[in-house]
Amino acid sequence: MTLGILISGRGSNLQAIIDAIASGELAASIAVVISNRADAAGLARAEHAGVPTLVMPHKAYPDRAAYDRALAAALKARGVELVCLAGFMRLLGPAFIDEFPQAVVNIHPSLLPAFPGLDAQQQAFEHGVKIAGATVHFVTAELDAGPIVCQAAVPVHDGDTAETLAARILEAEHRLYPEGIRRVAAGGWRVVGRRVQSA
Ligand code: GRF
Repeated sequence: MTLGILISGRGSNLQAIIDAIASGELAASIAVVISNRADAAGLARAEHAGVPTLVMPHKAYPDRAAYDRALAAALKARGVELVCLAGFMRLLGPAFIDEFPQAVVNIHPSLLPAFPGLDAQQQAFEHGVKIAGATVHFVTAELDAGPIVCQAAVPVHDGDTAETLAARILEAEHRLYPEGIRRVAAGGWRVVGRRVQSA
């Protein structure tokens, strides 16, 4: 399975995917890592691993659809079969998603459908939940709302701050995302309504 990974920042989930491929845990290759920000730290992680990178600043395009089309074309040109969002801070519209049907996944730092959107860990902390976690899901035009591939739960401890909770969730993310990608890449599933189930 040929992956294309979209990032905007730190790239620790990108690193987890790179490491899972290197260890043989995930049978895939990364054709390209694309960032909408030239200063994304994740770009150096890709370069260090010998993965081709591309910076595509969204501000260089007149509107969202034009950016979406250019992004999809760049991925297709490199033979990408599965697009993995890893901290990519741009909404993708139909002009992108329709090019990759059931082939765009994202990781979100909450047990969706709880706490979609920004600062999910802070939202969970302030809400006072006792169990938090992360979700790998298919991307649809609606934010953080697509069919769920897999989830991991972590406890919230009395002494936690939003930061210690976020760190615990991130550790879980690094195990969960390669596993979610592995499951999607392996096939043998179908989406029935909102449910991802065995075919
Ligand atoms: C992660 O918490 C991920 O769940 C969210 O954005 C963050 C990206 O972190 N979508 P990193 O760039 O992978 O370190």
